[in-house]
Amino acid sequence: MNQVKSYRVAILGATGAVGAELLELLDQRQFPLAELKLLASPRSAGQKVKFKGQELTVEAVTEQSFENIDIVLASAGGSTSKAWASTIVKAGAVMIDNSSAFRMNADVPLVVPEVNPDAAKNHKGIIANPNCTTILMSVAVWPLHQVQPVKRIVAATYQSASGAGARAMEEMKEQAKAILAGETPKTEIFPYPLAFNLFPHNSALNEQGYCEEEMKMVNETRKIFGDQQIRVTATCVRVPVLRAHSEALNLEFEQPFSPEKAREILANSPGVKLVEDWQANYFPMPKDATGKDEVLVGRIRQDISHPCGLDLWLSGDQIRKGAALNAIQIAELLAQQNLVAPALTTV
Ligand code: A2P
Repeated sequence: MNQVKSYRVAILGATGAVGAELLELLDQRQFPLAELKLLASPRSAGQKVKFKGQELTVEAVTEQSFENIDIVLASAGGSTSKAWASTIVKAGAVMIDNSSAFRMNADVPLVVPEVNPDAAKNHKGIIANPNCTTILMSVAVWPLHQVQPVKRIVAATYQSASGAGARAMEEMKEQAKAILAGETPKTEIFPYPLAFNLFPHNSALNEQGYCEEEMKMVNETRKIFGDQQIRVTATCVRVPVLRAHSEALNLEFEQPFSPEKAREILANSPGVKLVEDWQANYFPMPKDATGKDEVLVGRIRQDISHPCGLDLWLSGDQIRKGAALNAIQIAELLAQQNLVAPALTTV
């Protein structure tokens, strides 16, 4: 006899870019829902959102919002996550947090289900969803690292507007319209115009000159891989792409790693789609990664400057695998492995 378990889920940040994707994925992947609660700031209270043919009403988050909730999918920024985490945990729910607030806490698992699903077992009420560029890189590098340890990663990122949220995507569109109309583009979310431009990622810089986004790639990769030895350096750049990030990765292994072998491994790795047509010069592009679950990987080639080096290129949907899909996969893990109490069990 089959037992069907279903869960009471709340989305904190339901009106944002990732929130909208979470809703779509809960529906598409048929996550077993006993209840779905949509939470945001008081600005959005009363807003109606369609889900499975029904109209749900967005509520402003309050102290009572998490009572009788099993799983909270939080994507409302670090300060909102910090403000509500203890209320969520006290209410007995598991928080899957998309912000960076708890990622490096020793007692908070940082999970990419294709890489370290077992880490979720040790949760104490909070599981962190890694940074988007780190998730995309991990999915592509982990299968190779399993065959032969990667010693060093040199990454350059090409990050879309979506990484800064729904309002940032609108801002870039408005900037493009303004520039084409011969007007001065407005900047509110971004520090500089992004349309027809690019700039190094504008998160805070440390004394070594690295921005927060770059240090997330360094520190989070080590935690996810469970390998403190792996050396990572990155240059993160915001580019005028609406959605889906790309990355150029240079990987240094202990021994030479043939591109053919890397190709064969990646063609059979979970969450990866090999996209290479050398004749047509066709490789992963953000336009093709948009809306896809897989990280598109290609242009795998021998690094001519180093006998143990490989170069590759990837594009992945930042809102999907870089955020919402990874969070839903973690929720699915919790459900499959009984790591959260179900609201209802029916036979
Ligand atoms: P709201 O639409 O009411 O501002 P994005 O990352 O796309 O910008 O989305 C951010 C999400 O986080 C939105 O749903 C936003 O709701 C929500 N949010 C922002 N600040 C708060 C807050 N203080 N409390 C609850 N939700 C918040």
